[in-house]
Amino acid sequence: MSNIIIIVGSMRKNGNTIRLAQSFADGAAINNNVEMVSITNYYVNPCIGCNSCFTRDGNKCFQNDDMVQIYEKLRNADIVVIASPVYFYGISSQLKAIVDRLHTPMRNTFNIKKLGLLLVGAAELPNLFDPILMQYQMVLDFFKLDSIGMVLVRGVKNIGDIENSSSLKKAYELGTSIY
Ligand SMILES: Cc1cc2nc3c(=O)[nH]c(=O)nc-3n(C[C@H](O)[C@H](O)[C@H](O)COP(=O)(O)O)c2cc1C
Repeated sequence: MSNIIIIVGSMRKNGNTIRLAQSFADGAAINNNVEMVSITNYYVNPCIGCNSCFTRDGNKCFQNDDMVQIYEKLRNADIVVIASPVYFYGISSQLKAIVDRLHTPMRNTFNIKKLGLLLVGAAELPNLFDPILMQYQMVLDFFKLDSIGMVLVRGVKNIGDIENSSSLKKAYELGTSIY
């Protein structure tokens, strides 16, 4: 049984990202402790690159914002799943702010062993997700993490579009594969 945190990077409360993340969570919750962290509930400032977290006790950031609560949730996480809409071929900026703020604790403090990826985008381009996949692979390599897998959904733009795709089942099955 693993502790899984899913970080959901869309502000649309009933959007495609949260639907995909919820399906994954439903499957994963059968054998694991699963918690969703949505950017709709936390305001996280970007990293300012001061590097003071390198030397501060517990690698804490000097910024006393909602990231403090997210750090607490991640302290006992074994697996982190990133769920995002594609924004200009990257992840959403709110989610990127959270990811950047993880850099030092990921290296020194946390015990995260695996990552997963759930992405949605409007275009049907075959290479739509390539920039994010490149980043994902480099993060896995740098932090020496394994991937639990991914579900990538093209052609979903408006709220509800994802309901008619097979991706919700795929996300659920990816969740059930973790135990
Ligand atoms: C600022 C912005 C940038 C976007 N950029 C892209 C893009 O580069 N490629 C793409 O396929 N879709 C893009 N989209 C569309 C979203 O990825 C798509 O609507 C997705 O389903 C939204 O997920 P959500 O319902 O969870 O918010 C963009 C949407 C917004 C708001």
